[in-house]
Amino acid sequence: MRNRAFSRILSRKASNITMLPETHRMLKETLVAFTNEQLIPNARTFDKFSLFPRDQIEQLGKMGILSLNMPSSLGGAAFDYLAYALAVEEISRGCASTGVIVSVNNSLYLGPILKFGNDAQKKEWIEPFCDGTRLGCFALSEPGNGSDAGAASCTAKEESDCYVLNGTKAWITNGLEAEATIVFATTDKHAKHKGISAFLVPKPYEGLSLGKKEDKLGIRASSTCNIILENCRIPKENLLGKPGEGFKIAMATLDSGRIGIASQALGIAQASIDCAVDYAMQRKSFGSPISNLQSIQIKLADMETRLQSARLLTWHAAQLQSAGEKFTKEAAMAKLAASEAATFCAHQAIQVLGGMGFVTDMPAERHYRDARITEIYEGTSEIQKLVIAGNLIKEY
Ligand code: CAA
Repeated sequence: MRNRAFSRILSRKASNITMLPETHRMLKETLVAFTNEQLIPNARTFDKFSLFPRDQIEQLGKMGILSLNMPSSLGGAAFDYLAYALAVEEISRGCASTGVIVSVNNSLYLGPILKFGNDAQKKEWIEPFCDGTRLGCFALSEPGNGSDAGAASCTAKEESDCYVLNGTKAWITNGLEAEATIVFATTDKHAKHKGISAFLVPKPYEGLSLGKKEDKLGIRASSTCNIILENCRIPKENLLGKPGEGFKIAMATLDSGRIGIASQALGIAQASIDCAVDYAMQRKSFGSPISNLQSIQIKLADMETRLQSARLLTWHAAQLQSAGEKFTKEAAMAKLAASEAATFCAHQAIQVLGGMGFVTDMPAERHYRDARITEIYEGTSEIQKLVIAGNLIKEY
């Protein structure tokens, strides 16, 4: 039963695919094959031993997946944001840890450098980070502030030819492996969010050290750690954007990042449904497969409806972003809906599987653990509601 259930998941056809342009269909089909061959068979081991999926990231890098939205002149794949959403979802269907590694490099690291960097910065900080051999990360949160991103206490003191950074940044995805980070620090604490600036910092680097690798509930194959800055002297040309522009850079970056996390959540929700349907069609109870029972069908219907609704919100946000329209509210709605769909679907999948959902032989328990973070990072669900309501009110 266990092996049969697992192999059937691999043969499921993706839905909604006919709505997509030809280029996006081809990208998705390529990634379906990659996910089935490279991620699904390894995800359990990556999770169990907290192993960074180095080979898979390098392969995805060669395919252009680590720099989907970068122009080809900088070594990127030059796709739009819908392609990014599709890619992160498909990868996360197989391994949600790999999904967030890909998402952070694309939207939290490369994205703001393309948008706010000068030509020299783009050449130095984007080009080498496009092919998966080098990764970047994003250092905004601190031990003392997460949701209140404007309250950064990490300082940047201007000296003759450099900025001197001091403080600790927390919860940094890709923190261990990344070879560059964007650090947000304040040059003027009294100016609150208007005193925050963004800095490009190489890793390893004098004055920069790492905290312990966090031991997490889910997405265990991606690393999370603190970045500690002690008299870390950064050349002035490493300032990203203008002085005091850091908070806006962070907020604009998170708008894109939230589409990535929404897509990661869709992948987890899809994997949960695949697992639940497959099991329900094989498991017999009261003389027939449990998929014939209305109590199971009602669960499956609720799961699929939540997933498809969240997917349409996510694709809509991605399309607005590609068209250069405002998408802050739509990205927040996508992340809110998709992360709640992932948690719901993973929870229900375990209920469908019963005892088999509670053991590590089946992937349902991993989806349940992986889903939880999607309601927390890149802005909690509560923060998404503030963003949605704030933008809604402004529309009147
Ligand atoms: N784009 C551009 N500018 C924006 C913006 C956006 N989306 N949202 C706000 N701004 C601007 C505003 O226009 C305003 O500008 P002015 O000062 O010129 O008027 C300024 O930013 C301040 O705006 P607010 O008053 O709305 O800011 P606030 O202090 O009330 O905070 C918040 C708003 C929504 C709560 C914000 O702090 C927030 O998003 N918090 C959550 C932070 C977050 O997501 N952290 C996750 C970190 S990354 C991570 O998870 C780790 C990882 O590695 C994956």
